[in-house]
Amino acid sequence: MSARKILVTSALPYANGPIHLGHLVEYIQTDIWVRFQKMRGSECYYVCADDTHGTPIMLRAEREGMSPEQLIAETWTQHTADFAAFGVNFDHYHSTHSEENRVLSRDIYLRLREAGHISSRSITQAFDPVKQMFLPDRFIKGECPKCGAADQYGDNCEACGATYSPTDLKNPVSVLSGERPIEKDSEHYFFKLGDFAEFLREWLHAEGHLQPEVRNKMFEWLDNGLQEWDISRDAPYFGFEIPDAPGKFFYVWLDAPIGYMASCRALCDKLGLAFDDFWREGGDAELYHFIGKDIIYFHALFWPAILRGAGLRTPDAVFAHGFLTVNGEKMSKSRGTFIKARDYLDFLHPEYLRYYFAAKLSAGVDDIDLNFEDFTARVNADLVGKAVNIASRCSGFILKRFDGCLADVGAEPELFGKFLAAGEGIANLYESREFGKAMREIMALADAANQYIDEKKPWLIAKEEGRESELQAVCSVGLNLFYLLIAYLAPVTPKLSHDAREFLNVTDDRYWGWPTRIEALLRANSAGERRIIDSPLVGHRINPFTPLLTRVEPEKIQALIEASKENLEPTVTAPAASAEKPAWLEPIAETVGIDDFAKIDLRVARIVHAEAVPGAEKLVRVTVDIGLETRTIFAGIKTAYAPEDLIGRLTVAVANLQPRKMRFGVSEGMLLAAGPGGRDIWLLAPDQGAAPGMRIQ
Ligand code: 2FM
Ligand code: ZN
Repeated sequence: MSARKILVTSALPYANGPIHLGHLVEYIQTDIWVRFQKMRGSECYYVCADDTHGTPIMLRAEREGMSPEQLIAETWTQHTADFAAFGVNFDHYHSTHSEENRVLSRDIYLRLREAGHISSRSITQAFDPVKQMFLPDRFIKGECPKCGAADQYGDNCEACGATYSPTDLKNPVSVLSGERPIEKDSEHYFFKLGDFAEFLREWLHAEGHLQPEVRNKMFEWLDNGLQEWDISRDAPYFGFEIPDAPGKFFYVWLDAPIGYMASCRALCDKLGLAFDDFWREGGDAELYHFIGKDIIYFHALFWPAILRGAGLRTPDAVFAHGFLTVNGEKMSKSRGTFIKARDYLDFLHPEYLRYYFAAKLSAGVDDIDLNFEDFTARVNADLVGKAVNIASRCSGFILKRFDGCLADVGAEPELFGKFLAAGEGIANLYESREFGKAMREIMALADAANQYIDEKKPWLIAKEEGRESELQAVCSVGLNLFYLLIAYLAPVTPKLSHDAREFLNVTDDRYWGWPTRIEALLRANSAGERRIIDSPLVGHRINPFTPLLTRVEPEKIQALIEASKENLEPTVTAPAASAEKPAWLEPIAETVGIDDFAKIDLRVARIVHAEAVPGAEKLVRVTVDIGLETRTIFAGIKTAYAPEDLIGRLTVAVANLQPRKMRFGVSEGMLLAAGPGGRDIWLLAPDQGAAPGMRIQ
């Protein structure tokens, strides 16, 4: 039987922000599945890319004083480094702003147009007369036409829940310029999704394309009727220009999924594979998309319809997952639970997270919760306490008493056989994305291995004379069970499994019979080479044991949470803009009484010293003179001010803020500043004549 050929994707992350733990659920889930496929001999390729186009990225680059190309290049470097550190092993990681994607987007559009699936007409939209651009709904604010609530977005009211179009808003303003938008007409291009209603109904009906709960939702949408989809945007827009339509660009969501194909194209060029095998109708490859449940509509309706309309193959399945909550709540910057991948890596081992996510993941779309107490308990009990512990319990005797040599004959063939036989069940669970269940099976085996050691008590055998071979046999059984366990865990904990194999002195990278690297896999497949673990290691010399994984230290988690609050300094600075709205127009916060406000002791402060904090992206350590004393304050203003330019300046400090322990030291106050972030942060500057220590009245 020839190997399955499989192409797998994860959703393309936007190129205007860092990878955080919420993203990682998906990349870790996909990576585990792909690694599993490779270990089983499938010719499986994992591709992804940065999603680079659209208004938010264009505006973000403008705000940061760089070109969109510069911004997306920097982000690509950060994203790929973060993924690599978490062991997310793409076969190719591309960009939607690439030549491959330009060509494919154009070709697909032309095929759709040729087949009559594109229409065009003039529509009226809000236009910012100052910025000279059309405004997406989220870039307009005003009073709700229904309840009159102020400061509502152009598409819905957060106060009464009404939905409407931006032209209905009372007293609308552009969040970009603060001006009242005008109405302006322009020609737009539409994809006629309705042409595919019958096809989509069949596609959704067919077993296995979607999870059952997702499928039902899709039918509801289908039953409500399919609207034409506006796939064009007017200049200025960072994206690809539409053929024969100067000044019109593809909407980011048109070329984003085509980015899957573009990345595959680049991979095929790199490895000399036939691109059409993956994308032509009737090709022999399987195609799977892993996504979050918020973008199902795009992947289960638009995307299959576009592929179909362009005469290409449609996905075998779209697998959606739920969102990540941390300690039972939405990730929050102020609670320090909005955790960036980079910050996590400064404190904790990436495979703790891979294991924890695996233990919580199922084939469904339920949200998963990262509870830090549970995380600590589970990683320590399972990975360290159960799995790695087997090796530490048995290796000492083998190394000290038998010169590192395992017994010549495998004892307990039944026990080893039971572990071997469990492999198929575990494989089925991996295949069906029931990773939580797979982890429970593996840990049940680890329990059985530890129980065997507990019963045999090698530490007692070791004390008695004449029981040498028994001691060697028992410890060899323990290590051979460990050998199987780390193979079963390898899709989830590739580094731990690799290191454990080095300790066991197993030199190839075959786990379930196949190498994990794609080049080696292809070679092995064509040569028919396969060496399944089907017998124990006998008469085999192992290497000295070094601790393979240490326990999670709760202090490290605390420190990570503190470090994740770093971005909040200084108080008034809002975080970077979310995908759709500029952060400096956040709604005004809850009212505070004058009594509460009066408790804040604001003092004129002179900066007497300032230096960058090594390892912190945004922090400057400043020493301020506040009249009666000097204070050390960590201020998040490095992106806007060079430390040397700060020295000598007057500003305003909160003098009675409780000192806060941060990752880099204790911050004894706060400097006041305002602005959206990046270069645009302005320290408050008192007028001349103010002197350090003066209280702001
Ligand atoms: O929702 C998002 O983060 C998008 N950038 C996902 C795009 S996935 C695909 F269609 F490209
Ligand atoms: Zn309202």
